[in-house]
Amino acid sequence: MTVRVEHFADAITDGSIHQAYNAFDNEMLHEEEPTFARRPVGDTAAMLAQSPSHERRPRWLLMDGSVVIGAATLYLDDEDAANLHLGWLDLGVLPGHRRRGLGTRLIGNVARYARSVGRTTLMPHTNSFIPAGAHFMRHLAAEPGLVEGVNELQMADLDLKLMEEWAAAGRAQSDRFELLRVDGSWPDEMIDEVVALQYVMNDAPVGDLDFNDQVFTADHVIEWQEELAARNISRFVFAIRDLPSGRLAGYTDLGINPSFRDLGQQGDTGVFKEFRGHGLGKWLKAEMVLRIAADHPEVTRIRTENAQSNAAMLGINHAMGFRLHHEQTIWQINVEELLATLST
Ligand SMILES: CC(C)(COP(=O)(O)OP(=O)(O)OC[C@H]1O[C@@H](n2cnc3c(N)ncnc32)[C@H](O)[C@@H]1OP(=O)(O)O)[C@@H](O)C(=O)NCCC(=O)NCCS
Repeated sequence: MTVRVEHFADAITDGSIHQAYNAFDNEMLHEEEPTFARRPVGDTAAMLAQSPSHERRPRWLLMDGSVVIGAATLYLDDEDAANLHLGWLDLGVLPGHRRRGLGTRLIGNVARYARSVGRTTLMPHTNSFIPAGAHFMRHLAAEPGLVEGVNELQMADLDLKLMEEWAAAGRAQSDRFELLRVDGSWPDEMIDEVVALQYVMNDAPVGDLDFNDQVFTADHVIEWQEELAARNISRFVFAIRDLPSGRLAGYTDLGINPSFRDLGQQGDTGVFKEFRGHGLGKWLKAEMVLRIAADHPEVTRIRTENAQSNAAMLGINHAMGFRLHHEQTIWQINVEELLATLST
């Protein structure tokens, strides 16, 4: 069998590649999450065809004839000025093709490319369900940078009374704080203040990762929304405005992918330091979960990723009934050291 590596510098628009990648992606997904539905090819096509102006996504596909047996995607944000040294990495080889050096071949391609575009650090992630990922990372002398818990809330276990109490305590502060509800995209006239709001996420712990406070731009906000819309992902946001200052104090967002309708994917949640201590985090999360319970009975569970060191967020999530489902680790590898390891 001859396996070749095909490189795509940019968005992939070829329908036959969409089909082949979809089969690969579903086999990988099934290994990780056997209970999940299959991802339809349309969702894969929308993912591969995305090409935001602020982020390049070069890909490498390991092809055996017309079958994709492995793949790597590098995410290079060109507008996050404080993190131009790094590239986030997705990498996988189908279970039946492992331990034949193919993962090594893929990451070698990625590392050479990263060096050619001046990125010095790769940040891949692994999942506790598939120990091969962590073995591979240790073999390459990567360092674990951040361990995150993927926490899941069974909606059947939700304490509705407690959520009503949290929401009522928030609403009781209506002379000071206004709750905003946004379905889908933020109104255009709010984009600048939403860019400012994103900075609250710089307070989330990053462990030992060589990851600096992010720089956010209007492109980040607008293109992320466009990406969700292209994939028909429903997005719900609650935000809170501090009325005396007029500032947005915090927000939470959640997405539902129509391919996995039973699963709500919690996105960001953050409240700026100066507005903490008023129960706003609990208020936001309670409004969201009450909304989902009322309007989306098809959602039977919600997932959220939290750094294991994030005591504040975990405190709220545990009280809501979120429980650890599995762990994921973000690793970091210096590109030059990786290339040296690979050449020995
Ligand atoms: C991680 C992954 C990409 C490795 O792909 P692969 O093609 O099997 O990797 P290689 O054959 O190049 O492995 C290189 C070395 O890594 C180590 N390794 C890889 N898998 C291992 C395992 N299951 N147990 C122990 N060591 C392992 C070994 O040292 C191996 O060399 P050897 O086979 O000569 O002993 C693959 O297991 C995978 O897709 N896992 C799921 C997705 C994932 O976790 N991705 C994150 C990767 S950053």
